[in-house]
Amino acid sequence: RRPKKRTKIIEMMDELQKENVYIKDKERVEKLLCQLIQDGKSKLQIITDFDMTLSRFSINGKRCATCHNVLEDSTLVPESKKQILDELRDTYYPIEINAKMTIEEKIPFMMEWYTKGTGVLVECGLKQSDLSLAVKESNAQLREGCDWQFHALHEHSVPMLIFSAGIGDILEEIIKQHSQMYANMRVVSNYMDFNHDGMLVGFKGDLVHTYNKNEGALRNSDYFTTLKERRNIILMGDSMGDLRMADGVPNMQQILKIGFLNDNIEERLEKYKEAYDIVLVSDSTMDVPNAILKKIL
Ligand code: C5P
Ligand code: MG
Repeated sequence: RRPKKRTKIIEMMDELQKENVYIKDKERVEKLLCQLIQDGKSKLQIITDFDMTLSRFSINGKRCATCHNVLEDSTLVPESKKQILDELRDTYYPIEINAKMTIEEKIPFMMEWYTKGTGVLVECGLKQSDLSLAVKESNAQLREGCDWQFHALHEHSVPMLIFSAGIGDILEEIIKQHSQMYANMRVVSNYMDFNHDGMLVGFKGDLVHTYNKNEGALRNSDYFTTLKERRNIILMGDSMGDLRMADGVPNMQQILKIGFLNDNIEERLEKYKEAYDIVLVSDSTMDVPNAILKKIL
């Protein structure tokens, strides 16, 4: 029998004892936590997804809006377009969370969803000046504890990369309305392209969808190079695609992967436990990541 002290840090943390917290390889996580705490904040960087990771999945059983939903559900989109967007969601979201398909099999469908969806949004004549109200009227929210986390990471100068297949303009607005955008945050996402009248005409740069974040990571190798002394990473995501957000990070020493499993839980739990070091099932808070950060910062 192994002596109990091998998972001492894990056992000391109340947040990790809850029954919605799954850690498949406790010895690995113990070692990771130990190293992260020992190396401290100067060696740390955070890489996180936005939708359904920083933002909440549901409130009282009702789904919260993703960045895309903020627009799709707003009065800015006419009913006829809403219907098309709803149909797209009904077709492609089940594929996004399908437990049986591989990422490679899902990619062409995600491309289709994003291409068609953004095309419809552009046809709606959306104005930049309307975005703030659309966010205000939506039920998009940050997970409980995000505000503390953002503030703490800024205070301790720990860089945070928000890597999102949502919409950059919307996610920044959600963060501004519910917390604050800080200087240590960097966002890689789909940003809207407005003409001189402030009308949406398209999206800038290469499309980021749920399952091509590895390519986005490689495009941002400059960012990672400037942070190359920060060899320890805490990665947070809610999709299997988010695991690739740290691809191409030079000199990576340790990576602690925290996964939020929000939907299609029974079918996906095993895979998530394999892929993520810590899996948080139906958790609407940042309690676990924050408890870990409190030990490191
Ligand atoms: O992986 P990430 O969280 O960055 O992906 C963005 C999210 O936006 C996904 O959860 C996806 O379900 C959602 N989405 C949406 N409507 C779209 C496209 C994506 O709600 N048209
Ligand atoms: Mg997500």
